[in-house]
Amino acid sequence: MARNLVADGLPNYWNLFNLQENPYFQTTLGESGRRYPMSLFVGRGAELKRLLAGIGGAGSSRQAVGGAPGVGKTTLVQSVKAAALAHGYWATQGVIPFYPDDTAERVMGRVLEGVYEAILTTRPETADHPVMQRAQQYVRAFRLVGGGGGVSLAGFGASASQSSAAVTPTAGLLLDGPRVIRELLAITSEHAKGIVLHLNNLENLSDRDVANAADILRSLRDPVLLQDGLHVLLVGTTEAVTGATAAHPQLRSVFSLLALEAMPEPDVQTLLEARYRHVVRDPRRPATPPVAPEAVAALYPLFRGDLRGLFKALEEGVTLLVGLVGDAPGASLSVDSLRPALQRRYAELLAQTLSPTRQRQLTAWAQELGSEATPTQEELRRLWKLSQPSVSQALQDLGGAGYAGPLPRCGAEATTYAMTGASRLIFR
Ligand SMILES: Nc1ncnc2c1ncn2[C@@H]1O[C@H](COP(=O)(O)OP(=O)(O)O)[C@@H](O)[C@H]1O
Ligand SMILES: [Mg+2]
Repeated sequence: MARNLVADGLPNYWNLFNLQENPYFQTTLGESGRRYPMSLFVGRGAELKRLLAGIGGAGSSRQAVGGAPGVGKTTLVQSVKAAALAHGYWATQGVIPFYPDDTAERVMGRVLEGVYEAILTTRPETADHPVMQRAQQYVRAFRLVGGGGGVSLAGFGASASQSSAAVTPTAGLLLDGPRVIRELLAITSEHAKGIVLHLNNLENLSDRDVANAADILRSLRDPVLLQDGLHVLLVGTTEAVTGATAAHPQLRSVFSLLALEAMPEPDVQTLLEARYRHVVRDPRRPATPPVAPEAVAALYPLFRGDLRGLFKALEEGVTLLVGLVGDAPGASLSVDSLRPALQRRYAELLAQTLSPTRQRQLTAWAQELGSEATPTQEELRRLWKLSQPSVSQALQDLGGAGYAGPLPRCGAEATTYAMTGASRLIFR
């Protein structure tokens, strides 16, 4: 076995399963070129149809896609853009992020940059057009002051916190931006049905930053968002996109919300089969699923639809266990071997990443309320015997480390919180 593993270079345990590489990658589809192509997209037929109908049915549209982290929001919108491109619209492969402490100028700059790039990538020959040249000057000035890089291919720009001192040279953008965008959309209308813009990353924002995003969107509503030919897709947690689009009546009336539910389990199995085929090593033989489908079915409910969390656990599990368990090398791992190993591993990680206080609080939650409980802040306040601001801070810390998070709110009821799959693996 050892010789096999190193035959082609560095050890590659996935080869044991007739795979070239890890099929449990957590990357959003369609972002990093051809490596994780949209052909791996499965399911979501109804959601796709609805979003495309929103775009196809109007000269300009604004739709928000909300859902829990890892449920598949960004990938869904990547697929919407691919379908729109195939039907005569233009779009960029990347996404336009929102950052903490953003300003209307900067978001306007990123939108302008996005529209400019959507045109340029589909029709490079337009670069000489006077309107494109003028737009390019703005894009360049905007990038020079560090506001740019908006259309980041990774989806999460590395420069998450530009200093606000940098806005002055682009202050003219707020005045001229809408006109430049209108001119760009006019060029577009000669060749394409419209431009689809993907505003993402409304999931790493605090409540205050979401309120700030709502103010920015409101101020950009008439000058930018309502322009003919522009189709905006705003993506983030349900909490965040609701906060950003429903806080002001002016926005509520022009945005429609799609709340993305967990992918049904059979679709997850289909998704994994597609990945196994995609990274198969010897195509004359089928790949062996490194994790048995029954084990995937047993673990998925713990993650409540969080595909990224599930894939991370599957990857961890295989990496930990391959070659160690009693099963023959290259046989699918069962849930009976995976669960205890993952439980130990995640407990170790928890001990390394959380302070003793936070560990105690999470343990108390699991032991007193149960790992499936969905308490409110008030219930946690009573359990932890803390002040309200301290509870809020604790939840923020637990959320940041990936152990708990808010559930989508129903109407005016208080927000409830749930443990993530990682916590549930440890405590159940
Ligand atoms: N419909 C789908 N088909 C195939 N893979 C998907 C689908 N939805 C999500 N994924 C995969 O699940 C993971 C999480 O998806 P992502 O879109 O990044 O989630 P979110 O944006 O909601 O956090 C990624 O690895 C992505 O490739
Ligand atoms: Mg995302």
